[in-house]
Amino acid sequence: MPYAHITGWGTSVPEPVLTNDDIAKMVDTNDEWIRGRTGIRERHIAREDQSTATLAVEASLKALELANLAPTELDLIIVSSSSPEYIFPATACLVQDQIGATKAGAFDLLAACSGFIYATNMAAQSIRSGSIKNALVIGSETLSRFVDWKDRGTCILFGDGAGAFVLQASDKPGGVLSAVMHSDGSGADTLTLLGGGARHPATETTVLEGKHFIQMDGKAVFRFATRVMGSATREALELAGMTTDDVDLIIPHQANYRIIETAAKYLKMPMEKFVVNVDRYGNTSTASIPIAAVEAFEKGTLKSGNKVVFVGFGAGLTWGALVAEWTGPIPTKKHVYTIQYRLFARLRSFFRRALRFIEGIFSRREL
Ligand code: UT7
Repeated sequence: MPYAHITGWGTSVPEPVLTNDDIAKMVDTNDEWIRGRTGIRERHIAREDQSTATLAVEASLKALELANLAPTELDLIIVSSSSPEYIFPATACLVQDQIGATKAGAFDLLAACSGFIYATNMAAQSIRSGSIKNALVIGSETLSRFVDWKDRGTCILFGDGAGAFVLQASDKPGGVLSAVMHSDGSGADTLTLLGGGARHPATETTVLEGKHFIQMDGKAVFRFATRVMGSATREALELAGMTTDDVDLIIPHQANYRIIETAAKYLKMPMEKFVVNVDRYGNTSTASIPIAAVEAFEKGTLKSGNKVVFVGFGAGLTWGALVAEWTGPIPTKKHVYTIQYRLFARLRSFFRRALRFIEGIFSRREL
């Protein structure tokens, strides 16, 4: 049975920064309160010309370049997001087109902030089963577009960004070692975005009632999060035949410093083993784990051969954990320049659209 290794990674975070002081000019809050209750100092907010798909494409190209894997070699693309480009088509299909992944299947996955763990596990299981060889997993969010900037309970929390992993089959042991995924829909109403779906299609009333904004019972989510972060970590470690002593690094969902601290206490592990960057990015939902992982790697905290746990929780309610041995690129002589593929993808997309247009003219004549 092949192993599923993480062989490439990349992020894309918009440059514009929104500080706590900036938010204090919009709602009744202050830097001290936000930092004290969440650990957040600032977050990045997408420019008008950026979106969930554009951030996803940028992160993906970096991940593919590092893995030295051509987009044309991808078998599967999964985009995890709670702020997709559209209800449909899937953001993953837009990414497929824009990177030129000619033979890949593509779909979106919605498990909120736990989504990157779910998606990585799904890709790894497809590789482990032998049905595919190369997968691209992306967590991408522009939640700033769905935040009520008049609601101080939520607008202080979220930030935009994307992170991507390339997963590849290899006979060498390692890569994704175990994972657990959980859900509890009885808590569905604690964190929601109700408008625009089949239950509440967009109308003037849904807009006036604020149904197109994120709504959250912060305290309930906090209590739930502190309960599940530690237990999911233990469960995934047990499945991998490991204990907390075997873990080099925990990369948790970056929602709130206090939630991470509580998980560390529960697991009796020092905070130094936890990657924390919520102070500079806020909660980027499903993108937070890959962004934290890539940053840890770039800082030298996360190294090849390290045993890591990714653990997260979110709307649904969902939660999960995944244990992996961090691999790094598979040695190869070729060097993939993704910029070439980006160009090829644009041309290919243009010709396919043109062909579809011409086909439309001729089929109309035949009728
Ligand atoms: O990816 C999952 C996404 N969600 C989460 O992870 C959220 C988890 N929950 C949390 O992180 C916390 O519940 C929050 C940070 C959202 C809120 O912290 P809290 O300690 O639960 O505060 P609270 O809602 O109980 O509010 C305490 C007080 C209230 O005032 P009173 O009633 O005690 O006078 C609030 O009105 O703080 C007030 N408050 C604020 N004050 C200044 C609430 N929001 C703010 C604010 N600035 N932004």
